[in-house]
Amino acid sequence: MSRLRDTTTDTLGFRAATLNLGRMIAHQAIGEMFVATGFRIQTPVEETVGHAILGSSSLVPILRAGLALEAPFLEVLPRSKVWHLGVSRDHVTKQPRPYSCAVPDRIEEDDFGTRTCFVLDPMLATGGSAEYAVRLLKGRGAKQIVFVGVVGAPEGVAFLHERHPDVPIHLAQLDRELNSDAYILPGLGDFGDRWTGSVP
Ligand code: PRP
Ligand code: URA
Repeated sequence: MSRLRDTTTDTLGFRAATLNLGRMIAHQAIGEMFVATGFRIQTPVEETVGHAILGSSSLVPILRAGLALEAPFLEVLPRSKVWHLGVSRDHVTKQPRPYSCAVPDRIEEDDFGTRTCFVLDPMLATGGSAEYAVRLLKGRGAKQIVFVGVVGAPEGVAFLHERHPDVPIHLAQLDRELNSDAYILPGLGDFGDRWTGSVP
């Protein structure tokens, strides 16, 4: 987290820290998936009870910044479908502006039971972008949605939770507040710019 916040961290360091943190968050967030218990397995020493994740998963990275969490989540859930969602926050109004959508029109369950949709976006500021993504997924039939971020502001957490109390929120860190420009304090600046290398 500290490497991400630090202005002296370059693009390479920023990407490496995101990958590490992303793996940790992914391991935590998969706890929201359906786990079946009860089947018997034989260890070399004796028989015991096994556990397995039964449901399937879809990753929904919100472009651009959400792309940074795609690789660590695919390491942990390699069979996931990936549905990119392009949303940018209007500089003046701070409202989400969708510009592309690769989410299927109808999200179906599959043979393995409930599909968990992980909305990936490192920054939860006002919560507008995350709320838009969750609403879109619900409108297309998603039954189980989990939001995953890196840094959140209390304002964004409250906004998302108020509108979608059924959606668990996983963050590496809950920060203090938003500034007058709706940036997170202390935060890490513009995640998308830093991860893509648009700023040094
Ligand atoms: C950033 C960030 C989130 C959004 C969070 O995206 O990646 O998507 O802002 O703000 P919110 O909670 O107030 O909606 P941005 O619009 O800067 O696009 P980018 O990822 O392409 O940089
Ligand atoms: N988006 C970012 O990238 N950073 C913030 O602090 C707020 C929105």
